[in-house]
Amino acid sequence: MRAAIVKSRQELTLEEVAEPAPARGHVLIEVAAVGVGFVDVIARRGEYYDFPGPGAVPGVEVAGLVTAVGAGTSEEWIGQEVLAVLPAFGGYAERAVADADRLFPLAGTGVDAAGAVALGVNAFVADIASHRAGIRAGERVLVLGAGGGIGVLATQAARARGAEVTVVTSSAERGARLRALGAAHVVDRTRSPLDDGDSYDVVVDTVAGPALEQNLHRLRPNGRYLLCGAAGGPPQPEALAALLTDFHRSPTLFAFSLNSVRPEDLQASWQRITAMLRDGSLAPVVDQRSPLTDADAALRRVESGTPFGKVVLLPR
Ligand SMILES: NC(=O)c1ccc[n+]([C@@H]2O[C@H](COP(=O)([O-])OP(=O)(O)OC[C@H]3O[C@@H](n4cnc5c(N)ncnc54)[C@H](OP(=O)(O)O)[C@@H]3O)[C@@H](O)[C@H]2O)c1
Repeated sequence: MRAAIVKSRQELTLEEVAEPAPARGHVLIEVAAVGVGFVDVIARRGEYYDFPGPGAVPGVEVAGLVTAVGAGTSEEWIGQEVLAVLPAFGGYAERAVADADRLFPLAGTGVDAAGAVALGVNAFVADIASHRAGIRAGERVLVLGAGGGIGVLATQAARARGAEVTVVTSSAERGARLRALGAAHVVDRTRSPLDDGDSYDVVVDTVAGPALEQNLHRLRPNGRYLLCGAAGGPPQPEALAALLTDFHRSPTLFAFSLNSVRPEDLQASWQRITAMLRDGSLAPVVDQRSPLTDADAALRRVESGTPFGKVVLLPR
């Protein structure tokens, strides 16, 4: 089969590789769509702790048809269209193996394979973050990195809970698209900074970087800060001093990685996600669809920070 392989820190190439075989507890998926995530950018750079390096295949989310199962795995999966979250990469390929307890059926959701991977890990992050923070109707929520893969879904998930959502993004055009997804207020970070007088019950931050300390100070009393990513650079420990300085306001920091979410909590999240899909409060946002042969360009587009929503590869 064909797969896109990391050749070096700068290069991804399409090659013929051996077919994967599903081990005990796993299934084989005929991949119809793959999500291209920031995690793949970091993996190719050699900066992801769990990526094997040159010779390995990136990609942590695929959608497609289950065609075979490994020992000890229910044959009922065969023939089902699923979204799969892959624990050990391997998604940029015509076929991939996935853990049976990290499969999410697409039947009845109304989304196709591209839409499913545009939800992918980002929808789990957006939903579980909103759920853990206990976002309530009427609360003020700030979404940083709002035009990105997680941000477009976090904006919708917070709005679905009745919050008044402020988004920070990088152009008027992205701001207009975020308003259409439910944002009440838009800050274009290329034109003006956030108003220091404004404060929020919840901050969903996928950017971190040098502004983290200042953003922690934006929490209202009993506020919750969801640190979900670091598209703007790794957070520095000194930034967390803000939590102690603001002790009198009882701030809570959730540092949140999907890697530590238990399979049963992912399944519960999928139930909430599909309920939002059905009532129309959540929809996937696909930035661009490309063939697997364009994997290198797709990864560079994600690295550039310009996509609105999710870049998707279509192996077939
Ligand atoms: N917690 C988890 O389990 C988990 C899961 C998946 C991904 N992640 C991480 O979450 C982060 C975001 O992922 P994503 O898929 O949403 O990435 P993405 O699609 O690249 O979006 C990131 C967004 O952040 C904004 N941004 C980028 N650089 C910035 C900078 N220097 N300063 C301010 N804003 C900046 C941009 O949005 P605007 O142009 O709209 O401002 C960009 O679209 C990544 O670090 C990724 O590794 C975490």
